[in-house]
Amino acid sequence: MLLSYGASFLIKGILKPQVAVDNYSFEYGESIELKAEDLFDESDLESIKTFDYDISNLEKDFRGNILVGNYPININYASKLWKYTQTINLAIVDTSAPKIELKTNQLTIDVGDKIDVLDYITSSDLSEYEVQFDDSKLDVKVPGTYQILITACDVYENCSEETLEVIVKEKFVPPVVAKPDPEAPSQPPKPPVNEVKPTYVDGILIVNKKYGIPSNFASGEDPTAKAALVKMINEMQSLEFDIQNGYSGFRNYAYQKQLYENYKAKDGQAAADTYSARPGHSEHQTGLTFDLKHKNGALVEGAAEAAWIKDNAHKFGFIVRYPKGKEAITGYMHEPWHLRYIGPRASDIYSSNLSLEEYLNVEGGNYR
Ligand code: DAL
Ligand code: ZN
Repeated sequence: MLLSYGASFLIKGILKPQVAVDNYSFEYGESIELKAEDLFDESDLESIKTFDYDISNLEKDFRGNILVGNYPININYASKLWKYTQTINLAIVDTSAPKIELKTNQLTIDVGDKIDVLDYITSSDLSEYEVQFDDSKLDVKVPGTYQILITACDVYENCSEETLEVIVKEKFVPPVVAKPDPEAPSQPPKPPVNEVKPTYVDGILIVNKKYGIPSNFASGEDPTAKAALVKMINEMQSLEFDIQNGYSGFRNYAYQKQLYENYKAKDGQAAADTYSARPGHSEHQTGLTFDLKHKNGALVEGAAEAAWIKDNAHKFGFIVRYPKGKEAITGYMHEPWHLRYIGPRASDIYSSNLSLEEYLNVEGGNYR
């Protein structure tokens, strides 16, 4: 409760006792009780024998709380000899913001899943209020970490906000294994039709815009590469780097196609080609490649984690496949997060300061 003092009286005891405050503010919903000490100065308190006021007729909500507004109320009080009435203002104000409660702060969904943000929040306020959220940046088709800002404002412009983090993770697509048909005559299964052959130079697989791989090249993560990755992530976490256990790893042809098509629809082909490989040309289809993630989202250039990876990933057999300054030869913008497993020769590539194309002396750049 807030008190604002009106005129005060100098010659207490001689003059009639006065209600010392002419405006009383209460928060909407707060129980309203005026005590003698609230109403009268100490010097007047002794002479006040009784006092009362009536707020029973003021307009109330269904819970019985007096509605926000200003109400003149009469304070009736009496000394030994006299009875007095003084009108004061009772102000009911709403200065509290609506409450938003998140059922979870972090939500993980599969690529393509739909969510209704309202399913994950509860909110309340005594006054009328509105909940708004901005999920315009959430793209459930693209794996990543997204923040959704939720705000709730009441009619008195008291607002509160919360952030819901949504992690869109890649759906694991199990390789399709055809069931043997017991009726069919026993014949060796036909190899899938795929004319593209993988290219190895000095025993190292090269995948770029010039060199593609067959759509059925791999069906999942390479176990050696995965083990090296886990070792590296553990090492980073033990050094207290903010690196996620989660990453974007193996993608099958269909999934890479879906990703690329989405980017193309969003940014146009020329732009999409600078950061997303066309299906049949992504290293993610090899099972040897992993996009690492910062605990706050993307692992961007300038992050301490990216700097560490640049100079240490080779110790675990990885190279940063799309280095800064090599865009023309790799065909892609700098991607500090995209690691390609090579094995022990990663250290040699690292020391050479060359891109993989330069190191193997193969053609890079754009599509034919
Ligand atoms: N972002 C890399 C180039 C890929 O899509 O494979
Ligand atoms: Zn990548």
